[in-house]
Amino acid sequence: MASRIDRNQPIIVCGGGGFIGGHLVADFLKQGYKNVVSVDKKPLDGWYQVHRGVTNLGGPKGDLMNLDVCRKVMKGRAGAKVYQLAADMGGMGFIETHKAECMLSVMINTQMLMAAKEVGVDRFFYASSACVYNADKQRNANVTALKEEDAYPAMPEDGYGWEKLFSERMCRHFREDFGTQARVARFHNVYGPFGTWEGGREKAPAAICRKVMNAKHTGKLEIEIWGDGSQTRSFMYITDCVKGIQAITNHDTFVEPINLGSSELVSINQLVSIAEDIAGVKLARKYKLDAPKGVAGRNSDNTLIQKVFGWEPDTRLADGMAKTYEWIEGEYLAKYGSGKKFVEFNYHDKGHDSKGHGKNGTAKKPAKSKPAGKKPAGKKKSKSR
Ligand code: NAD
Ligand code: GDD
Repeated sequence: MASRIDRNQPIIVCGGGGFIGGHLVADFLKQGYKNVVSVDKKPLDGWYQVHRGVTNLGGPKGDLMNLDVCRKVMKGRAGAKVYQLAADMGGMGFIETHKAECMLSVMINTQMLMAAKEVGVDRFFYASSACVYNADKQRNANVTALKEEDAYPAMPEDGYGWEKLFSERMCRHFREDFGTQARVARFHNVYGPFGTWEGGREKAPAAICRKVMNAKHTGKLEIEIWGDGSQTRSFMYITDCVKGIQAITNHDTFVEPINLGSSELVSINQLVSIAEDIAGVKLARKYKLDAPKGVAGRNSDNTLIQKVFGWEPDTRLADGMAKTYEWIEGEYLAKYGSGKKFVEFNYHDKGHDSKGHGKNGTAKKPAKSKPAGKKPAGKKKSKSR
């Protein structure tokens, strides 16, 4: 059972200047929604995608750490669907070294829940993470896929995972005590175009694409891989994620946190091979064993999402990586040309990555807005931070 579709219903995407939020806004526009609000604390010129035909609230007007801002965003928007994706986060290089900053996202979640409750919303979607799962269930690369009940007894990823688990509970109690119709998905590593690919917050798929293309364009045919490469993950392509978010949000009766991720388990070494095949190169592999590694293995058990929704993410990793590589290569070449200027980010250096900017300079000014609903197409009109 899914909630009624009303294209005049207010849609509020928090974190709309980020990777998943930007794609979600694009999808609502494509479906013909007329009342979409995209909110992000970054100024608009730092957003991955700025869509026309949307109320875009960026900079201080979009900083959801401020309760007044949350209230202003919600004002006059009773009956909205709220998608809460705003968070201070990144891949392992960021979350292992910025635990307090990750935990402070609890303020965004708490205040957006409060503001949503005050006006009364139709739905409140919360983007949780596979990082909530108990570490003991992820100690082996040959991991048993994680079922929803594996989050308890709680031993999540330090910092980021605890915040996500706490905010999941808050969603539950707002629903039970106040009737706020919260829905929660636990995303497993999401990748695709228009996301972070440099600067320290990038996740493995984008980082590996960048490292492979950097080797190719500089002619230095080697790659540094964090860990020994045997760690395993599953990676979900962005279009699958966007589809899943809406299905979960619209469901009338299924309210528990649910996995939203691919079940195609690969090692990081295999991920590197996929990127090498796309680039048409073979690289000497160097393993950096003291780099941030996270868990040894993680996969999504999709039994529940198949049962309840009759569906699960299904884009093949090689296909999604090819699209991701193409987009990142457009960004990379636009910024670095032959690649000779590129300097790899040092994840130990906290000083300059808290805004997502790397050693290679400040955020590049994005191209003006991409027409709403247009397919991300990379090379000429792309942007990054
Ligand atoms: P992202 O970093 O690209 O987007 C998050 C956005 O939130 C950023 O644009 C950031 O500026 C914004 N933000 C941060 N603090 C804010 C504030 N105070 N007010 C308003 N906006 C603020 O990340 P993403 O990959 O799009 O992730 C979206 C959500 O999904 C996050 O909650 C993340 O924790 C969750 N998630 C993502 C993944 C993944 O693999 N991408 C996996 C698990 C969970
Ligand atoms: N980021 C990154 N960069 N990871 C690398 C690299 C590299 O250059 N080389 C190898 N890796 C390895 C990491 O050491 C880790 O073992 C694995 O690739 C995956 O790293 P990430 O993609 O950064 O993170 P993750 O899968 O451990 O966690 C991500 O997914 C969660 C959801 O499943 C993070 O983005 C979390 O924030 C997210 O919640």
